[in-house]
Amino acid sequence: MARVAIVTGGTRGIGRAISLALSNMGMTVVANFGGDEETARLFTKDTGIRAFRWDIGDFEAVQAGVELVEREVGAVDVIVNNAGITRDSTLLKQSYEQWRAVIDTNLGGCFNMAKAVFPGMRARRWGRIVNIGSVNGQAGQYGQVNYAAAKSGIHGFTKALAQEGAAFGITVNAVAPGYVDTEMVAAVPADVLDKIVAKIPIGRLGQAQEIARGVAFLCAEDAGFITGSTLSINGGQHMY
Ligand code: CAA
Repeated sequence: MARVAIVTGGTRGIGRAISLALSNMGMTVVANFGGDEETARLFTKDTGIRAFRWDIGDFEAVQAGVELVEREVGAVDVIVNNAGITRDSTLLKQSYEQWRAVIDTNLGGCFNMAKAVFPGMRARRWGRIVNIGSVNGQAGQYGQVNYAAAKSGIHGFTKALAQEGAAFGITVNAVAPGYVDTEMVAAVPADVLDKIVAKIPIGRLGQAQEIARGVAFLCAEDAGFITGSTLSINGGQHMY
C-alpha cells in the first residue's frame, strides 16, 4: 500500500513542490492549507492531490483535521511540517501579536502535527517527519526575532523528537532552506533582498523544487538511518 503523507502548507510555494515530489515517489499525498481556498482548488484541479483545510496553530483543529484524513485517506506515515508565516519587524517595533502569531504557527504547528500522528506511527513502527527550518533559524536575521526563534526552535524540536522516535522506526529530520523564489521572499523589500542575494555564494534564489528534492530524499524508504539531522539547502549562504 502506498504511504500516506501530509504536507502542511502544501498547495503553494515550497509546500506545493514537496507535495508533487512525494506524489511522484508513489505516496498518497494530502496537502493541508490554512485559508486560500481558491489556490487550493486550483492545486487539486492541476495535480489531483486532495487539499484539506485546517489551522496548524490550533491544537484542536489539527486533531480534527488529521482524524478526517485518517478516515478518508488512511493512516498517516509521513508528515512534512512546511507551513509557516512571517511577521517581519525589528524588536523595537514588533508587537506581542506578531511574536505570538509566528511562534504559534511555525513552531506550535510542528508540535500540534506531531502530537496528532506520532502515536499511530509508533504503533505501526514506521514514520517520517520532516520539519522545514530556515537558514534564518540557524544564523538569525535582522527583523526576524520571532521567525528566527521559531525556526531555531524547530531545529531543537527535531533533534529531541528524533531521539524519541528512533526505537520505533520513526525518523525526524529538518531541512533548512535559504532564500527561495516564493511569495514569502518576494515580500522582502527589493533593496534588502538584493543585498541578501549578493551574499549567496551561488548568486541566486533557490527554486522550490530544489528544497523538495531534499525532503523527498529524507522521506524515502531507504533513508531510515538518517535521523536528527539538518539538511541545509541555501546556495552556500553562511556555509551551514
Ligand atoms: N543589518 C543592519 N541594519 C539593517 C539591516 C541589517 N541586516 N537591515 C536593515 N537595517 C537597518 C536599515 O539600514 C535602516 O537603518 P537606518 O534607519 O539607519 O537607515 C534600519 O535598519 C531600518 O530600521 P527600521 O526599524 O526602520 O526598519 P523597517 O521597519 O523599515 O524594516 C525590516 C525593517 C522589516 C527588518 C526590513 O528591513 C525587512 O523586511 N528585512 C528583511 C527581513 C528578511 O530577510 N526576512 C526574510 C523573509 S523570507 C523568509 O523568512 C524565508 C526564509 O526562511 C529564508
